[in-house]
Amino acid sequence: MRPTEQVYSAYTEEDFEVWKILFDRQMEHLDGKVAPEFLEALENVKFNREEIPDFKKVNKILGSMTGWQLITVPNISPAEEFFMHLAEKKFTATCWLRKMSELDYLEEPDMFHDVFAHTPLLSNQAYTDFFQSMGLLAKKYNFDKEVILKLQRLYWFTIEFGLIRSGEDIKIYGAGIISSKGETQHALSDQSVKHDFDIAQIYKHDFRTDVIQEEYYVIESFDQLAGAMDVIERALFDEVKA
Ligand SMILES: [Fe+2]
Repeated sequence: MRPTEQVYSAYTEEDFEVWKILFDRQMEHLDGKVAPEFLEALENVKFNREEIPDFKKVNKILGSMTGWQLITVPNISPAEEFFMHLAEKKFTATCWLRKMSELDYLEEPDMFHDVFAHTPLLSNQAYTDFFQSMGLLAKKYNFDKEVILKLQRLYWFTIEFGLIRSGEDIKIYGAGIISSKGETQHALSDQSVKHDFDIAQIYKHDFRTDVIQEEYYVIESFDQLAGAMDVIERALFDEVKA
């Protein structure tokens, strides 16, 4: 059974070692590739190699910056529940870490993914405005199946696997890339296709969760996403375009 709440004293020496190895390794792989917004956010939440993040401390920081909170779940949440929490500025996160023998492959997200990769940007106002709006839309349309499917695709190609322009370069901000050694190297290489952010295309774009992505969408800024919510909502029902 996975833990349903974080008991900090229950972390083992192996957990701390796994955190440190993954932290060091990803910081090295992300060097020069990750969005400056993520690095700034990492400083906001004070994550470091020595300490597995303590949800109480993280929530204090997020609470004062954007009003967001982590809530602990044992495993990945069902879509409806996940979006419902987003609407209330709550992000569902696991609090267990993979074993040393599973450093490179995991069947389900652990806290290195949920916390290291997802949580820092919960301190960024424009990012969280967009993130919350997805939850509010799901709620507004009563968790309609079609709406949820489109929002899941939007979530996938932004929050999980999004790229962002930074000056002349393209950088990573998606959590699925940030926590993956292989995807960090692949996402910015010539091996993958990069599209400009296009909501109609994203709503039609089916994705696979079990492979490295072949296509990514590049946003200009988090303000672009936060400012596009009207279009994002209208396109949910625009059968011709979407
Ligand atoms: Fe994720």
